[in-house]
Amino acid sequence: MIYERRPEDFQRINTQELANAFIDEQIQAIKEQVGDKKVLLALSGGVDSSVVAALLIKAIGDQLTCVHVNHGLLRKGEPEQVIEVFGKELGANLVYVDATDRFLDKLAGVTDPETKRHIIGEEFIEVFAEEARKLEGVEFLGQGTIWPDILESEEGIKAHHNAGGLPEDLQFELVEPVKILFKDEVRQVGLALGLPDTMVFRQPFPGPGLGVRCPGAITRDRLEALRESDAILREEFAKDGLDNDVWQFFTVVPDFKSTGIRDGKRTFEWPCVIRAVNTIDAMTAEPAELDWAFVQHLTERITSEVPGINRVLWDITPKPSGTIEWE
Ligand code: XMP
Repeated sequence: MIYERRPEDFQRINTQELANAFIDEQIQAIKEQVGDKKVLLALSGGVDSSVVAALLIKAIGDQLTCVHVNHGLLRKGEPEQVIEVFGKELGANLVYVDATDRFLDKLAGVTDPETKRHIIGEEFIEVFAEEARKLEGVEFLGQGTIWPDILESEEGIKAHHNAGGLPEDLQFELVEPVKILFKDEVRQVGLALGLPDTMVFRQPFPGPGLGVRCPGAITRDRLEALRESDAILREEFAKDGLDNDVWQFFTVVPDFKSTGIRDGKRTFEWPCVIRAVNTIDAMTAEPAELDWAFVQHLTERITSEVPGINRVLWDITPKPSGTIEWE
């Protein structure tokens, strides 16, 4: 059954059985909608698009083509995980586009946060459209729209970015199998589909990715320091089981340097900022109260392992006055 809206009496999907029943029902609905036609999907590696990809693979197998655009602003290991899970384990038709140079060249020297966001969004559509034009006979576009996206666009809170954006010559009928689900239900369905926990319980990650955590003009060396420090943070949070307790955590590497000392020699390097917050709806947020010894351990690892970082700062600002991201 293809739902247009979430029925009033729709039972919250909170068990494996309910998830399995939903999966069976949607596989049937997708088959009926798509027939023997082809479907295209932009697969970011986020929860929603990953669950839609796994559902579509089950329903229509190689009639689906997934395109994973690496804009060079993803976290360490993310493109590799998409290739491993979808390309290898699930055997999807996966087109992997490493567009890092295109994005970073366009972003070179750009300091304004909104201009950076705009460039990343536009370039993403451009790269995706180029790949779509290379494929023949695609009539459908799969999308990871979820129920809050629809509610928020109806209430005028945010534009429903999923549906729009593609140029005139690329207009497809949409396949949106999770569009009546809340996030926790999408996760339940993802687990039932066998996706890895690291994908299903991934913390929110902005579309412009690490680009908004590398304030000012992005440079490759500072971006690399950001990616490495973020990887250490995630590893340590996971080791301590904190990744289930803290809503969102990441690092920021600002565009200024300070004096330090390493091995008896003067250094002049960037600081790394730790940001960890708890929130219900991201409209307001509280800094997470991290254990002091844990913060010291993070500082030790980041300053000794990440080239170009000689200081660690801890951002204890609530939202407001700060936003969660730095840009
Ligand atoms: P802020 O910084 O506005 O962030 O307090 C609130 C939540 O939204 C995420 N965020 C974004 N997500 N595109 C996205 O897809 C963006 O441009 C963007 N900016 C912020 C942020 O990570 C946090 O979870």
